[in-house]
Amino acid sequence: SVIFALRSTLLNWYSQQGRDLPWRRSRDPYAIWVSEIMLQQTQVKTVIPYYDRWLTQFPTLQTLASADQQQVLKVWQGLGYYARARNLHRAAQEIVSQHNGIFPTDLQMAMSLPGIGRTTAGGILSAAFDQPTPILDGNVKRVLARLVALPVPTSKAIAPLWQLSEALLDPAHPRDFNQAWMDLGATICLPRNPLCDRCPWQPHCSAYNQGIQNQLPMTETR
Ligand code: ADE
Repeated sequence: SVIFALRSTLLNWYSQQGRDLPWRRSRDPYAIWVSEIMLQQTQVKTVIPYYDRWLTQFPTLQTLASADQQQVLKVWQGLGYYARARNLHRAAQEIVSQHNGIFPTDLQMAMSLPGIGRTTAGGILSAAFDQPTPILDGNVKRVLARLVALPVPTSKAIAPLWQLSEALLDPAHPRDFNQAWMDLGATICLPRNPLCDRCPWQPHCSAYNQGIQNQLPMTETR
């Protein structure tokens, strides 16, 4: 069926074209969490040196929790959106005081920590523990909007987009599937002039088949 074809073509593409990124070599939920927070509003290329420095300064959740805020903000300096650093610090202290210093493996518990929404939690739990938790970041929204030729702006279809993300996620390979999806959005299914000729999902893409990939996702109007 179509779902099985989408999963296998994406995973096959990822095994050949996926990016080798530092956090993908880790299974430490703390390190992966740090990467996901940095990547929320910052490009991969910018994040990499900050990620490396952060883990040198704060190699474990415990070292972060016991650091002082000035030190934490100093290591974040230059990344912007400093609330992300303050939330990381506060959440680390919360994990130490309420979860014995162990990053929660439960989606709802992870989502109750400061700075961790549904897509960040899904990204962390799938990458760290290979849990089948879906993601819906900006890249995934754009890929899905084109795949199904979504006739409304993505903000008007959040619930159905989450359902699609969940339905497509390969339960046998959730870690690789979610990472592959982010790479597809970041390297092929670009916001402007997507590289459809290289896309593993081209035969299944409604937007491509209608020649409207450049018109999607629909822009928000208000
Ligand atoms: N953006 C958000 N999470 C990411 C990840 N794990 N890899 C690449 N880009 C991302």
